[in-house]
Amino acid sequence: MSDVGRVAIVTGGGTGIGAAAARHLARQGTGVAIIGRREDVLKKTIAEIEGVGGLAMGIQADMADPEAPDRIVNAVVERWGRIDVIVNSAAVIKHAPMGQIKREVIDEHYNTNIRGPILLIQAALPWLKKSDSGAIVNISSSSGSLSIPTQSIYGMTKAALEYLTRSYAAELAPFHIRVNDIAPGPVDTPIHLSWASDDIAGAYKRMAAEVPLGRMGNADELAAWIGHLTDPDGAWVTGVVIPVDGGQTLF
Ligand SMILES: NC(=O)c1ccc[n+]([C@@H]2O[C@H](COP(=O)([O-])OP(=O)(O)OC[C@H]3O[C@@H](n4cnc5c(N)ncnc54)[C@H](OP(=O)(O)O)[C@@H]3O)[C@@H](O)[C@H]2O)c1
Repeated sequence: MSDVGRVAIVTGGGTGIGAAAARHLARQGTGVAIIGRREDVLKKTIAEIEGVGGLAMGIQADMADPEAPDRIVNAVVERWGRIDVIVNSAAVIKHAPMGQIKREVIDEHYNTNIRGPILLIQAALPWLKKSDSGAIVNISSSSGSLSIPTQSIYGMTKAALEYLTRSYAAELAPFHIRVNDIAPGPVDTPIHLSWASDDIAGAYKRMAAEVPLGRMGNADELAAWIGHLTDPDGAWVTGVVIPVDGGQTLF
């Protein structure tokens, strides 16, 4: 069962920031369980990790399903017998102006972006408590602090995730479990195809122009920060929300 040192669960680990985080953690010797709805993208990322000698497993699951977190935790514990790290990267974003926001869209955002992380942290808590270096990293967004028209529901869930980060950090500190958050600015990942597929080049140009450092970020730049925050070397940091956004939220 225990062919590994530390073990991380990375939701949304098949693509984008989650996949980059999974590759980064695996390079550090962590066994990574990556979670997502699409089997093909999970398999691709697992092959990349295993191809360079890393340890990975994929669990096909919908984080909006309240039964998923227990199933995920059971599968990881069955394979590796421990859980040390959780990276909550899975999320949905759908743009809609006020007046056109459908109830199903509100539910999907809440269930995936908020309830999923809450239930996953709860399900993994007994194992995180057993770890001597338990760490949780939530991935929020600059949209949680900027007022961006048509992103009210997405931004609300990201602001809530930042609140949960601070609240859980205080609650879990007595167990030496650290809880931190990274709030990315615009990063080059497939998520933008879900709202800007009509003119992705134009969307990328507009997003880069919003960033004082003059460009979008890339997923590996985010993964490096996830690595710092989950590493035992970062053991005296908890409850922080770090904007990794090229300065987008400066003004
Ligand atoms: N890219 C940016 O500009 C940016 C900016 C700020 C914040 N963020 C945040 O960064 C995180 C990662 O996004 P990304 O940019 O890396 O985009 P991405 O590549 O689209 O990653 C999102 C991942 O979440 C998974 N996912 C979505 N809904 C899910 C569900 N219900 N159950 C399980 N998995 C689900 C997707 O896989 P499946 O579709 O296969 O399930 C996908 O792998 C998100 O929390 C996002 O809000 C991104």
